[in-house]
Amino acid sequence: MKRILITSAIPYVAGVKHLGNLVGSMLPADIFARYCRSRGYDTLAICATDEHGAPVELAALEEGTPVAEYAAKWHGVQKDLGDRFALDWDNFGRSSSPQNHELTLHFARQLWKNGFLEIRVTKQAYSPTDKRFLPDRYVIGTCPHCGYDRARGDQCENCTRVLDPIDLINPRSAVSGAADIEIRDSTHLFLKQSQFSDRLRSWIDSHKNDWPSLVTSIAYKWLDEGLQDRGITRDLEWGIPVPDDIADGQLKGKVFYVWFDAPIEYIAATKEWADKNNKGDAWKDWWYGEAANDVTYWEFMGKDNVPFHTVGFPVSIMASGEPWKLVDRLKGFNWLNYDGGKFSSSGKRGIFMDAALEVAPADYWRYYLIANAPEGSDSNFTWEQFAGIINKDLADVLGNFVNRVTKFCVARFDGQVPGEGEYGDEEKALIAELDKRIAQYANYMENAEFRKAMGEMRAIWVAGNEYMTKAAPWTHIKTDRARAAVGVRVGLNLIHQFAHLLWPIMPSFAKTIHECIQPVGYRGGIIPFPSEGMATLLDDLTHGQPIKAPEILIAKITDEQIAEWKSRFGGSDAAAQ
Ligand code: MF3
Ligand code: ZN
Repeated sequence: MKRILITSAIPYVAGVKHLGNLVGSMLPADIFARYCRSRGYDTLAICATDEHGAPVELAALEEGTPVAEYAAKWHGVQKDLGDRFALDWDNFGRSSSPQNHELTLHFARQLWKNGFLEIRVTKQAYSPTDKRFLPDRYVIGTCPHCGYDRARGDQCENCTRVLDPIDLINPRSAVSGAADIEIRDSTHLFLKQSQFSDRLRSWIDSHKNDWPSLVTSIAYKWLDEGLQDRGITRDLEWGIPVPDDIADGQLKGKVFYVWFDAPIEYIAATKEWADKNNKGDAWKDWWYGEAANDVTYWEFMGKDNVPFHTVGFPVSIMASGEPWKLVDRLKGFNWLNYDGGKFSSSGKRGIFMDAALEVAPADYWRYYLIANAPEGSDSNFTWEQFAGIINKDLADVLGNFVNRVTKFCVARFDGQVPGEGEYGDEEKALIAELDKRIAQYANYMENAEFRKAMGEMRAIWVAGNEYMTKAAPWTHIKTDRARAAVGVRVGLNLIHQFAHLLWPIMPSFAKTIHECIQPVGYRGGIIPFPSEGMATLLDDLTHGQPIKAPEILIAKITDEQIAEWKSRFGGSDAAAQ
């Protein structure tokens, strides 16, 4: 059996995530995981909150809440929103867990023992106004590479290059705006990344054909610029403390850098899963040594995360000298923009996960977002486009099909699957087309090519509609009941198969229509991928079995709603600036 390990870039704990975050990692990871489960693959899907680091510490400080309490509260919020978006993780963990403390220390000790960590005295930004060392991202200034004037000291969000605060031109404190930034000495641990350039390059070469070019081009850009050794400790209170047995206690009072412990949480969250479910060492079989050889490990993330997953985390693994699993398939995404501009958490611009659910059900968002996932290039959200896609694909094509067929069956065939009539040429042509398209759809999903997969899904619905227009049971019922029965029988079986195909994308919608058509033997949970050809499955429902017509499935979005949401969320006007 195939074994598939899936991780989604773990969202920072503070604050509700916006739809750009959702579509760049958590949603595609969930859809892929559900697809894998629907195929019967042994699947483990892992996510967590990324809880350490300066922003969390400072946000808690501002709120006057102890940081551990603050992180726990936001973890709860994110877990709840994930549930409401039907993100069905095997574990949604916490990077502050005991398991992550333990594993992060394990890695750090291995790195120290193997001679890949070095003690260096660094110059670090200190703000006398703020009376503290300023963490990298709390120093803001002009990016030396691209000239962007609000680059953060850890990374330029404009050109994605990783920075040191010291590189910034005209640095200032993000806490107070103070420009009187001093540079003071501070002792830190550095990971000798530069020694891994060759190994990383040949590893990335080996993935030229199975990673998107977006991902390999970011990775190569990094290698071509020459890898810098990276500081992996910080002057913060909140985080995983550096233990005394590393560097003879010289790092007392410091913690590991959040980007060092966060990816290790992928492994730790797997251990959390095993611990919660009394699975003992089962977590290791996903990650370590021979037991994990048959696992294909997939990572999902936005493009800003790619450097940390093609260089940072792999170096930690390589430097450990232990056989931890490296990522096999790295799926990176471009940005989803909001109405021509950036989604922004700090600027509160765009649609956030909680507010999104106030205007439309999770399934609409899941479908819209994945069908327009920013795969090949950035994509742009507008309310008109959102409404257009829901109204056309989901209401006109899919919902209408389901309503039409089920209502007609209730009205004219006593709400039972009619058994009369034989399948002829029209049905054979439909079966052939669907078999071809479903195979193609599966092929795209196996490779996490979501836009193409969704294009095929739509074509499947369209083929069903076209068939039904030709079969026209509503016309034939007057003269040829057996002929009408064939159309209805095919239609009901199509709806049933749509539910099976759609479950990874729109789980609650799929469940609703599945319950109307085939209530027996289904008690929630996975609705599996069609396991046989359509020749069999389009006559799978028992002749005479009862069906129900669902209530209105997809309510169309009106112009008034679009106008209301635009003013609520900030429409084109905000984008024009
Ligand atoms: N918290 C980071 C972000 O939202 C992602 C961390 S991914 C991991 O961009 F590799 F560190 F786990
Ligand atoms: Zn079924």
